[in-house]
Amino acid sequence: MYTADHAEVYDLVYRGRGKDYAAEAAQVMDLAERRGVRPSSLLDVACGTGAHLEHFAGLVERVEGVELSEEMIDLARRRVPAARLHTGDMRHFSLATTFSLVTCMFSSIGYMRDTTELGSALSCLARHLEPGGVLVVEPWWFPESFIEGYVSAHVVEEGRRTVSRVSHSIRDGGDTVMEVHFVVADAGIEVRHFVDVHRIALFTRREYEEAFRTAGLKVEFVEGGPSGRGLLVGTAPD
Ligand SMILES: C[S@@+](CC[C@H](N)C(=O)[O-])C[C@H]1O[C@@H](n2cnc3c(N)ncnc32)[C@H](O)[C@@H]1O
Repeated sequence: MYTADHAEVYDLVYRGRGKDYAAEAAQVMDLAERRGVRPSSLLDVACGTGAHLEHFAGLVERVEGVELSEEMIDLARRRVPAARLHTGDMRHFSLATTFSLVTCMFSSIGYMRDTTELGSALSCLARHLEPGGVLVVEPWWFPESFIEGYVSAHVVEEGRRTVSRVSHSIRDGGDTVMEVHFVVADAGIEVRHFVDVHRIALFTRREYEEAFRTAGLKVEFVEGGPSGRGLLVGTAPD
């Protein structure tokens, strides 16, 4: 689903779109601190190219990441050598350690196909929390906030490379199907086009909150968040 082509332009696209990973990392730290946790260890699940981890590494003593895509984790390894990175699936990875803060950002949780998988992922994330630890999950849109037929379009230029990313999202039952078209032009070399299709579940807020509670966590929903989709904040019992 995250092809090598997509991984290669991922950071350039979001840099160009002004996504502020430093500010997002600071926001997540603040949420933990407001709940009385000064994180000394952090696990970022579905860490992608390590864009949050790069900033967490300057704020937290021990940082680790889990990621499904080999192409994405390879980029994270180069970007954050201080982090221990594990190839794994959020539904069932198992590390022999726990963390004061676990994160799963930028709607990666939406790749769970149904509420059973959502429950497995939440239990897996919760098992990696220390007593009293905090879990921050950035959800995908809820069914009522998703805009049917939404189009997003950006062009980014850096050096001799120009990338355009145009996406079109439709609802298919309980999912969003997002078709993303990339045109990548390298001056003097080539221009190429590729398409990625993402199926992202439209879980309700209640389904997310139920999965947190079933995993043994207290849960709160914080409006806004980095992408306007809010943040779900869970706390493990002491
Ligand atoms: C939108 S990207 C977010 C990456 C990163 N967290 C960020 O904020 O830039 C979604 C990521 O989720 C990863 N992913 C999808 N399904 C996964 C799973 N079951 N377990 C772990 N990672 C997964 C993808 O490979 C991709 O890197």
